[in-house]
Amino acid sequence: MDKSAVKQSIFMRTLRREPTERPPVWLLRQAGRYQPEYRAIRQKVSFLELCKNPQLASQVTVMAVEQLDVDAGIIFADILLPIDAMGVGLRFAQGDGPVIDNPVRAPGDVDRLPLFDAGDELSYVLEAIKLFKGARPDCPLIGFAGAPFTLASYLIEGGSSRNFERTKLFMHNERAAFQKLMAYLARLTVAYLQAQEAAGADCLMLFDSWVGSLCREDYEEFVQPHSKYIFDNLKERAPTIHFGTNTGGIIDLMAAAGGDVIGLDWRVDLFSTWQSEALRDRCVQGNLDPTLLFAERALLEARAQKLLDRCRGKAGYIFNLGHGILPGTPVDNVKFLVEMVRNSALSGAAQL
Ligand code: CP3
Repeated sequence: MDKSAVKQSIFMRTLRREPTERPPVWLLRQAGRYQPEYRAIRQKVSFLELCKNPQLASQVTVMAVEQLDVDAGIIFADILLPIDAMGVGLRFAQGDGPVIDNPVRAPGDVDRLPLFDAGDELSYVLEAIKLFKGARPDCPLIGFAGAPFTLASYLIEGGSSRNFERTKLFMHNERAAFQKLMAYLARLTVAYLQAQEAAGADCLMLFDSWVGSLCREDYEEFVQPHSKYIFDNLKERAPTIHFGTNTGGIIDLMAAAGGDVIGLDWRVDLFSTWQSEALRDRCVQGNLDPTLLFAERALLEARAQKLLDRCRGKAGYIFNLGHGILPGTPVDNVKFLVEMVRNSALSGAAQL
């Protein structure tokens, strides 16, 4: 494995907060349905079959990196795969998103969740990481997992949710069982992320996508200790990214839980949030609104340029969207955006 090329890559240098000539760029959901090649593969295999086929999962990961010329890959998988390994009946229903047939609705359901070895039950993800590293030893690869709160929300709701009523009801009325569920998910996540690093992942990302639905008190009491447990157990290892959406009200508490990089969505002003006391010593990643990729070029370019200009000269900025690329996004606009960031070293004042 070409470890030194990865170590010296613009992505890994930025994670160490070394000065670079431009920010590195990769995009959330850079592999997905906006790509005709991805849709062609999905004509033949279901989403779960694709995730569980290391050859195909690695191929889809490489394809996104090479088509877009981004500075890092993210292994093609899903945060819900550990939930599949729990045997609670995860399905991806056409048009409905994920469905869990046997959700967690009572304290007894928490006690029935199985203990398992991520290295065994999710070995297909580890195999895909190894295949990616074999094909692209020079390219940094991000491994990832869902954070305890976001995973708990799927387990309790039985699928996606808008207001998380069931999750919050369980959290407020079954406090001990909820804490137990969160601790179970945190332990499992540490083992899973450590296994991904051992398989070759260069950076580990924790997706707490729906944690922005919580007030500060609930985040502090029910979530922060568990996310902190994960980051504490990953210290001295690969650098970490901590991401959530709608997190403007709790971003300081999230940063206190951990993460070398804090991922921000488009609802906050990235630069001023970065300058706040809580984030000043971290890297930040984000945060262009993904719907701007549908807009006219001039506007897309102006908004991306504004982000680049604000962060120019400051080490530790990773260019990304604020959330994943949406299905139907014009591929040419995605390529245009990446190229613009890559060329940003040539425009304006040099970063160094
Ligand atoms: O390049 C990449 O980012 C691909 C890898 C990736 C996927 N999911 C593939 C995927 C990653 C990093 C994820 C993370 C994920 N999965 C999150 C956290 C990030 C976020 O978006 O907030 C969440 C919440 C999920 C759960 C999930 N997976 C949902 C709710 C859905 C259905 C809704 C949807 O977008 O279709 C999925 C399915 C999914 N995961 C798809 C892909 C490419 C689409 C499946 C298909 O091909 O039909």
